[in-house]
Order: sequence, then structure tokens, then C-alpha cells
Amino acid sequence: MKLITTSISAAAAMVMMASSFVQNVHALSLTIRNDIPGNATSPIQYGMMYEDINRCGDSGIYGHMLRNWNFQASDAGEKPTTEFWSAIGDGSSIELDIKNGLNDANTNSLRLDVADSTTRKAGVSNEGWWGLRVQPGEKYQASFFAKSTGYTGPLNVTLETSDGTVVASAATSESLTDEFQKFEVSLESTASDVSIDNLFVVSVDSAEAAGSSIYFQVFSLFGETFEGRENGLRKDLAESMQGLNPSFFRFPGGNNLEGQTIDTRWKWNETIGPLEDRLGRMGDWSYWNTNGQGLLDYMYLVSLQYCLFRSHRKQYKMCEDFKIEPILDVYAGYSLTGVSVPESDLEPYIQEVLNELEYLTGPADSTFGSLRAADGREKPFNINYIEIGNEDWFSDTYEYRYKAFYDAITAAYPKAKIISTADQKSRLWDIFDDHYYANITEMKSLFSKYDNYVRNNTAIFIGEYGTHVNGCCNGSPANLEAGLGDAIFLTGMERNADLVHMIAYAPMFKREGHEQWNPDLIHFDTETVWHTPGYYVLSEWSKNRADTILQVDHTDGEFGPLYWVAGSNKETKQVFIKVANIGDSEQTVSINLKSLAVHTEGIARVITGDSLDLENSKDKINVKPEEYIFNLNSASDFEYTFSAYSATVLVLHIQ
Ligand code: AHR
Repeated sequence: MKLITTSISAAAAMVMMASSFVQNVHALSLTIRNDIPGNATSPIQYGMMYEDINRCGDSGIYGHMLRNWNFQASDAGEKPTTEFWSAIGDGSSIELDIKNGLNDANTNSLRLDVADSTTRKAGVSNEGWWGLRVQPGEKYQASFFAKSTGYTGPLNVTLETSDGTVVASAATSESLTDEFQKFEVSLESTASDVSIDNLFVVSVDSAEAAGSSIYFQVFSLFGETFEGRENGLRKDLAESMQGLNPSFFRFPGGNNLEGQTIDTRWKWNETIGPLEDRLGRMGDWSYWNTNGQGLLDYMYLVSLQYCLFRSHRKQYKMCEDFKIEPILDVYAGYSLTGVSVPESDLEPYIQEVLNELEYLTGPADSTFGSLRAADGREKPFNINYIEIGNEDWFSDTYEYRYKAFYDAITAAYPKAKIISTADQKSRLWDIFDDHYYANITEMKSLFSKYDNYVRNNTAIFIGEYGTHVNGCCNGSPANLEAGLGDAIFLTGMERNADLVHMIAYAPMFKREGHEQWNPDLIHFDTETVWHTPGYYVLSEWSKNRADTILQVDHTDGEFGPLYWVAGSNKETKQVFIKVANIGDSEQTVSINLKSLAVHTEGIARVITGDSLDLENSKDKINVKPEEYIFNLNSASDFEYTFSAYSATVLVLHIQ
């Protein structure tokens, strides 16, 4: 944190030095009203929307490092292949063997035909997802099923650089037999640098195994996962999620819930149980989904422990057990090629949802709750929010579909809050899911959309939003302009937090260079992760949460280029003033606090840059929050200069 002692912010000072921006003095006076009751906010206002898009599930947050690990289908969802695997050792070869399957889910295997090699090594190697990250000192857990005709010795498991240097190794304690058995080993990296040009190798002594065949299935390799969870999340990406200070998690889609066809919908029951029993499916975003990360794995996300460290002039630290609400999106009989399940055929699809809910919430001795218990989770989850379908305004069948699902779900779960995704007249809803992919001009008009909206005991869920600057949703960069569009939008939503209970950005992640949708909030590759301006805006807006929205009177000036919201938090005794400035000049604002006295030192958290085109990349973070202490003139009056092109949170401490 930087300390400044004038009433002009350090961010402003920094930008003044760095550019020729014009300073606009006293264009605006704001009076923040603590003398009249303010609207309550939602305790779960900011959260996450998640689906496997942009290669963010397999190859992304799902920590499994190997590609094509169970040979169920090709990457493009066609017939299985040995893609991403190679044979090691001269003369040895690999094949997809369709006669030696492991079980009903995995009906084939990877066969290694061993020849003696000059290196005395024969094996199979996997190249990972665009590389395989090995980090100094990192521990890895590997497993696979294998059997052999003709060889009965152990197997060696190694992580190797592409030139064959071994950077981690272990041998199985058991030997191969002619029946499939599961092998598990732990490895520890001796690498001195982070690298991704590595291979995962399982090998044997080729002199001893020559002439034999070895069959492999269901490989897994995990580095250190978030909170050490088995089959867990890639740690750095999970930490990025945590950095959003989320209160809810909407999953598993999005389009990826719905399937292109009814048959390729996301089927919860194929995503549970041991890895070797799971069935993959062709995802909606043009690549195969393994379902190695399934329903229960998603649910473990809702128990993320979040430690929020906030510091201000007293340098206090607060650690919260952050409870994240699952928002379960259920398949509602519509798939993306425009097909709907006819009304008379809905029953099995409704039953599928009821079974899913029982799996999650039923006692451990119920039919489906017992499956959950067998999967290692005895205690039922709470599901308080259920969303029926996704963007059902695409279809003309939502009336009958919503009604049928609504009736069955509310009969079994009367306390659940039901989210509708489109207008329909057949039944009520508790919450309506509105999605906004919009350009900056549209975001400015959306800012006030809910100001005069009828409050009729229902709430709005912004299940997806994102500003595009170059048309939705292909080549738009996640630049500062997009981030400021998001800031304007979020500010408008927060002003209406009594109505807009939940907000989530979409899509949340992209693997750089392999995306189907732009812009996205969090970018990553095999090696690392980096954040966009919009990420930092959402993170700041989410970390600085008010429990009351304070009325702000603007005595001079109007919205634009500044957009603002103010709120207070009783527990932390803080006032937050969140301001987006989309203009190309600084704006000095006179701020008066009515019936409120604060300490004369405040904190400004500022996201800014000298051009709207600025983007962050793996190599260069151009835009990120900077924190400053600033001085107020008095306990209830001060001026603050908002930098050009900025999103700012002012944090004041109530006396
Ligand atoms: O976020 C990308 C897609 O946008 C979602 O899958 C869908 O719900 C929306 O159309």
C-alpha cells in the first residue's frame, strides 16, 4: 500500500504524471445519505458461473494432467484412438486394443507390445494437455490399471523432460499379472525450474518384458491439488476462483448442461463414482468431456474455505469460513439443436432430476443418497437454489417444460428457490435469470435498468454477464474497456441489490488459444494463470461488500462518465463508494457524508490504465488493482479525484 497525504488520489497523481489527461474539477457533488434507511443487499451477491467451455474443465480446473486417459472417444468425440500417447523404446509399439477392456465403461485398452530395446526401456508416454507442468519439489499421484500377457514384473513411472531426463520416478510395489489391477505411486519432482515440455511415462525393463503385451486403462496423474483433494482442482486456477470472493457456484452450464442433442445432455449419473466407472460425453463446445470432474467434485467446490485478509489503517485481519451456495442447474428437456422433449415424454427426465437431487440431499440410506455415501460423502448437501434449464427463451416449449419440472421439484423440495430462465406464464418463480452480453453503450443503459423495476417478491439472478468491445462473442478482447463496462454494469446492479440478488460473469475461464468464446475472465495455459481487468473489477466489487445500499444524491452532474454506488457494512464498520469512470479525463468529485462520521484516512483501490485497449497477458500485467491511503478533509466531507478510465473502490472507516 502506498501512502499519500493530499486529497488527490495517488492514482490520479500517477496518471497525471503519465499522461496529458485534462482534470475536470467539481463536475459532480455527491451526498451519501445515512440519514434515511437504505436498501438491504443480498448476502450472496457475487459468485461464479461454471461450465466446461474454452477447455477449462478437462485441461483446466480439473487437476488431471493426462490427455485421453481412458480411450473412450477421440478428442473430437469420435471413435477412440491412442492420440496423445506414444511408444517408448525401439521396436515397441502401441495400439488401441478393443478386445481387452477394463469394464463396461471402458471397453478397450492401450496395448504396449514390448520389444527389447538398446536402452532396456519400453513403455508408453503421454504428452499431457499442451504440455505437462512439472514444478520444483511438487508431489504427484499417479494411478492406472494394467495387466500383461507374458510379463510379471513391476512397472516404472516417471516424469521426464522431452529429451529423456527423468525428473520424478517411482516403481510400483506390485507386479503385473494377467488380470487388471490398479497401480498407484507417488512421485516427487527433482526439477529445478518449472517446465511444461515433459512426458508421463510408464515403462518396464525391455529385456525382461520383451515379447509380452501390457494392457493399460484409466490413467490418472495429479500434481498438488487445491486443499489436497483427491481428483481435485488445479491449485492455481482454484485460487483464482477464490480471489473472486465468491458466494455461489452455478453449474454445470450454460449450454454444456443442455447437450446438442437430448442424448448428449449432461447426465449427472454418468459423472459419479470411481473414475473407472464414469462415462464421458461430447460436450457442447466441440470437444470431448471426460466427466472425470463430476457432480460430487463440483459439490466439493461449495465447501471452499476462504480466508479474507483485509488490511487498513489498523491492519486487522479477518478470516471467514466462506460458505458458497450451489446453484444447481438441471436439464429441463431442451437441447441446443432446437429439440424439446415432448410433454408426454417428460417423465423420465423429471425423474432423472429428482434422482440427482436425492443423490445430493437425501439421507445416506435413501436409494440415491446411498450412492453418494458410497462415493465418500455421507453427509447430505443443502441445495437451496435450483435452476430449471438454461436460456429457455431459445425455445417455444418452456411453458409446459417449466410447469412439469416446477411441479415435481417443488412437491419434493418445497423450500428450494426455483429459478426460471425465460418468461412463462404457467407457474411462478422465485428468481429470474437474466443474461447480459453487451457492449459498453448497452452496459451504460443497463446501469439503470432495474432502478424502477417492479419489486414483487421475486429476485433477479444475473447468471451470466460480460462486456464485449468488438461484438459478441468471438474476437472481443478482455481489455480495460471491457473491464470498465463490467464495472458500470456491476455498479448498476449493486444499486439495485434488493432486487438483483446474484451476479456471475461468464465464461469464467479460457485456455489461451483454445477458446470458443471471448472475452473471458481468467486466462491460463499449462504453465500459469493470469487475470483480466474485468476479473479485478469483479474481485474488488465482491470483496468490498455492503450490507446496506446508501442513497446517493447527485447535486451537480449526472451519471456518465462517472457511475457510482455507495453502501455500508455494519460488521466491518465500513462505507464503500464504488465508482467507474469511463471518461478520458480525471474527475474531481466533492463527496459529503450525511449523518455519517468516518476516520480521516481512507483506502482507495484503483484499477486503471492510460488506454482502454490495455490488456493483460501471460508476460505482462498492464492493469491490476493498486491500493492507496488517502486523507479526507474532515470526517464527513472530502474531495476525491477519480482517474481517467478507472474503476475505484473507496473504503472509509466509520468512527
Ligand atoms: O457463457 C457462454 C454461453 O452463453 C453459455 O453457455 C450460455 O448459457 C450463453 O448463451
